[in-house]
Amino acid sequence: MSFDLSVFSNKNIILAVTGGIAAYKSAILVRRLKDYGFNVRVVMTHGAQAFITPLTFQALSGNPVHTELLDPEAEAGMGHIELARWADLVLVAPASCDTIAKFAAGLADDLLSTLYLATKAPVWVAPAMNQQMWAAKPTQRNLNTLVEDGVHVIMPEAGSQACGDVGLGRMPEPEDLAEQVKNYFHQAQRAIAEKFGLLAGKRVVITAGPTREAIDPVRYISNHSTGKMGFAIAAACYSAGAKVTLLAGPVSLDTPNGVRRINVSSAIKMLDESMHQLEEGCDVFIATAAVADYRVAEVAEHKIKKAGDELNVSLVKNPDIVATIAQQSKRPFMVGFAAETRNVEEYAAGKLVAKKLDMIACNDVSRADIGFASDQNAMTVFFAEQYQMEKRDLEKASKQEIAQQLVEAIHDALHHEIEPV
Ligand code: C5P
Repeated sequence: MSFDLSVFSNKNIILAVTGGIAAYKSAILVRRLKDYGFNVRVVMTHGAQAFITPLTFQALSGNPVHTELLDPEAEAGMGHIELARWADLVLVAPASCDTIAKFAAGLADDLLSTLYLATKAPVWVAPAMNQQMWAAKPTQRNLNTLVEDGVHVIMPEAGSQACGDVGLGRMPEPEDLAEQVKNYFHQAQRAIAEKFGLLAGKRVVITAGPTREAIDPVRYISNHSTGKMGFAIAAACYSAGAKVTLLAGPVSLDTPNGVRRINVSSAIKMLDESMHQLEEGCDVFIATAAVADYRVAEVAEHKIKKAGDELNVSLVKNPDIVATIAQQSKRPFMVGFAAETRNVEEYAAGKLVAKKLDMIACNDVSRADIGFASDQNAMTVFFAEQYQMEKRDLEKASKQEIAQQLVEAIHDALHHEIEPV
């Protein structure tokens, strides 16, 4: 699972391109910003159009390019004031000396300088120019004014320049700029989630994936769990403002953004790490792992050699991780999962009680369209009796959507008024 790109689909970036050879890099910058899911509108100064055409940016951004302040047609579509209000961030890249000087002086004689005065959005400038022009006193004075006015200045890089000089003045690579924009919005979202999210400030520990029980140094017993559900829940908990630790069995999934991942192999290791996390502090424990029920009684020190027609391996029961954590005196809110092939709800409700869980989510793995390796899932959620909450049916949806609904269920149970008995 990679970073969820859709989170930026409601964020609007104005990329303002001014006159400079680095303008060609801005074409790639549009692509990278679009890759992250941002809406991009491009504003070009007249100087910029000498280096690259508006048509290029129109094709790349998928939006008309804005070039004129007093163009009746453009103003009828999206005038400079609407444009200024539309933006969540104005990124001027490359920013020429001339534009920087205009911003510093408060001029409003073209679309971009007017937009600068009219927007409430943060403004970032990425100066790109000849190293001597960068070092010139008026440029530095104007940049200081911009910083005092709250503009974020992205420092140019040193290197060889198109004019043949060597020194400070190169615009950072488009990938770097796009990443800085992404990180900015990500941090802003994170700050909001940590304050207002459904799991704001909660510490969540999640077990995920299969466990691997060694037979000898080269062989093991395991199962087909992919870990997708647990990873999706980890991502959803993080988006809801939680601090998330993911205890992952051997799976080939990318770590969700912002999540602390600890790889474990056997059930015993997963239990050890779970206990350790409990000591470190845990408000919610979510057990999605498909823990092997049995492990090999005595793991062979060396590779077992082929001999005879039969090989007997003796197995012993693994500890039940979720039930063990639920028995601890200072226990977190416990969430379990049940994958069944028949009598799904009856078995799940039984496990809720037997393992002393607060909540259990169950699904029918006999259905090929959901569960294990599928990207979709459907579940029924039960709450422990003392919560006096109705069971919830989560209709078939992507594992991400199901994860989001599970976060809501956890939040609701955590905030449910329990009647004093
Ligand atoms: O008993 P069963 O394996 O069906 O229970 C499933 C639930 O118990 C899941 O939440 C699973 O992660 C957890 N479990 C566990 N340790 C085990 C077996 C299951 O934490 N040894």
